Amino acid sequence: TPGVRPLIAGNWKMNGTLREAAALAEGVRAGLDAVGGADLLICPPFVHLHVAAASMGWKAVGIGGQDCAAEPNGAHTGDVSAAMLADAGCGYVILGHSERRADRGETDALVRAKAEAAIEAGLIPVVCVGETEAQRDSGEAEAVVAAQMAGSLPEGFAVAKGVVAYEPVWAIGTGRTPTEADIAAMHARMRAEIAARFPGQGETLRLLYGGSVKPSNAAGILALPNVDGALVGGASLKAADFLGIAAAV
Ligand code: G3P
Repeated sequence: TPGVRPLIAGNWKMNGTLREAAALAEGVRAGLDAVGGADLLICPPFVHLHVAAASMGWKAVGIGGQDCAAEPNGAHTGDVSAAMLADAGCGYVILGHSERRADRGETDALVRAKAEAAIEAGLIPVVCVGETEAQRDSGEAEAVVAAQMAGSLPEGFAVAKGVVAYEPVWAIGTGRTPTEADIAAMHARMRAEIAARFPGQGETLRLLYGGSVKPSNAAGILALPNVDGALVGGASLKAADFLGIAAAV
């Protein structure tokens, strides 16, 4: 999107040790000079946030959580608040990832409430949407994604410079991706939805693609209209691959 700086985000999911998180963050930091064309973001597991941020030098790259609670601090055993993420050095939080929608029963309404909490804490929400394979096969993909966006994005989303990540469920961790034409069509629909919802702002919000992005397919995907970056899973666990994707911008 003209005038929009791409964002390459790494979702580390539930992987690694403290030592590995520190080494991965350090590996990303060490290669930064070669990838000036994009903003970078890493999203380690909660317990690795601090060591990753420290290894990264805290400021060179954005740090994000992979989820947050909808509630403010208080009696919610096992949860982590948006304010805690901000305090730990995060500027972003991934919300509504399909693994949480599927495995933890997260609804659009809950994702929206979490996004409101994130914005309240000063975080930029990265809200994930995407259809299942059955939904794509039955021709519902765009309608599903549009409905997820309508239900998951709160009113303050555009002012907070929120990010939407399109991750087709069937492309996550499978090595399969939609065709470039299908990605472009979905992102055009997403742009239309977000521009209609937030006139004057939605035109320049970042829309990421996620699902089996790797160095070899990144350049083609990142060149598509309305694709303003990538949300990378498996390939973000190797600094060279993550940096290779960022260099493809
Ligand atoms: O959030 C990113 C993710 O779901 C994509 O995973 O492993 O297909 O890049 P992967």
